[in-house]
Amino acid sequence: EETQAVDLALFGALGDLALRKLYVALYHLDREGLLADETRILGLARQDYEPDAFRARVRDALEHRVDASERTEESMVRFLERLDYAQVDFTTLEGYSRITDWRDGREVPMVIYLSVPASLYGDICKHLSGANCLDERSRVVVEKPIGYDLDTSIEINDAIGAVFDESSIYRIDHYLGKETVQNLLALRFANPLFGDQWNQSKISHVEITVAETVGIEGRWGYFDQAGQLRDMVQNHLMQLLCMIAMDPPSNLDSDSIRDEKVKVLKALRPIEGDMLDTDVVRGQYVSGSVNGKQVPGYLEEEDANTESRTETFVAFKTEVSNWRWAGVPFYLRTGKRMPQKLSQIVIHFRPQSHYIFDPDQRSLASNKLVIKLQPEEGISLQVLTKDSGLDKGMRLRQGPLNLDFHTAFPQARIPDAYERLLLEVMKGQQYLFVRRDEVEYAWRWVDTLIEGWEKRGVAPKRYPAGSWGPVSSIAMITKDGYSWYEDY
Ligand code: BG6
Repeated sequence: EETQAVDLALFGALGDLALRKLYVALYHLDREGLLADETRILGLARQDYEPDAFRARVRDALEHRVDASERTEESMVRFLERLDYAQVDFTTLEGYSRITDWRDGREVPMVIYLSVPASLYGDICKHLSGANCLDERSRVVVEKPIGYDLDTSIEINDAIGAVFDESSIYRIDHYLGKETVQNLLALRFANPLFGDQWNQSKISHVEITVAETVGIEGRWGYFDQAGQLRDMVQNHLMQLLCMIAMDPPSNLDSDSIRDEKVKVLKALRPIEGDMLDTDVVRGQYVSGSVNGKQVPGYLEEEDANTESRTETFVAFKTEVSNWRWAGVPFYLRTGKRMPQKLSQIVIHFRPQSHYIFDPDQRSLASNKLVIKLQPEEGISLQVLTKDSGLDKGMRLRQGPLNLDFHTAFPQARIPDAYERLLLEVMKGQQYLFVRRDEVEYAWRWVDTLIEGWEKRGVAPKRYPAGSWGPVSSIAMITKDGYSWYEDY
């Protein structure tokens, strides 16, 4: 479908996300001819800025963040001319007339982007409606975190839902905008080779790692309330898990895909009771060194509460209790201050059932599919071949069938997640956005785990910055006879 012209009203226009990601993404779309000529953007924030000063601020952000080879004066000017600015106090109705003035009776649909704290979503939606800014074609885009637990997420979703229909609400999980995450759909559902093997009779276990080298980056206040479980697992890791575990949707419609994802979330085994001792590890980093650089511990970061028990790492084992996956453990882990940035999914296929080679090599005889999401995108299938050389007999050797995206498709620029997501909003396509029931089932699962931690007073285990997490996260998987895949 063609990208429609829209009027994009961006709340939080001078915020971190807008300046770091959103203008850059919109600029790239414009440069690639994917913004309709009539599309305009209104920046809204509390600060007193003249439109020209606002455009200068955005220009500055673009100059810092867009590669020089992708900037021309012409494309910059063309983009900046789309921008306007209005100073608005989001909490009172008065200022919203600035939006109707800007609209000036234009016919194109409005996209409202709420790049502000979720506590403001309700007020903003109410005032948009009160000031008659909306019609049935208006769409709203919201960022995570959608709440702090199930109850608060219901409140927030209710407040948005009082004004917008679910079909007009676009909840962002930026992992769904990553090209490689969408590739999971192609990989699984376009390749019969994998599609037919994708179940408990052929797969022994699945690993998902999302490791970050960053620490708290000046966000201690927010992060300490959330922790890695709420900040990363409730959304990004759950979405990856869904993409790996879902049944094939009957088509690519938004609801066909999201219905299947919800089924996974509903079938996800909660971690409770004794599983809290065996199937989950909560960690917090202490000082250490990442990439050769000494970094402070979590409790020594700026603004830290030195008593905090918030986790910066979590590893757990779960199962998707359905026909496809019964008995297949899913091991997931994510943490800050890990040795390297790495998001990777590893599918371990079951070993060969009748084995005829060297008995010592028996444990080798299975295949692994390694899907790298970042930093480099690629897929590799670990296969066994004969070791070469006259003295090797029939010894086996494991090696990768490799698909490195940058090497295989060198011309293709891999777009940032926000480019894809903004484009889909403008097209009115929801399949890369999170439906309300997905958010809520994910919270239910997370809430059960957090309640368990609270009841038992589980304190995080320390791990040095620059390590792969507490040693017990390694023991958690080795006791099952497996290990985290380590060909980083
Ligand atoms: C955000 C989290 O949603 O995702 C951050 O709030 C985290 O804590 C970030 O660092 C990771 O995103 P990416 O795209 O760098 O993997």
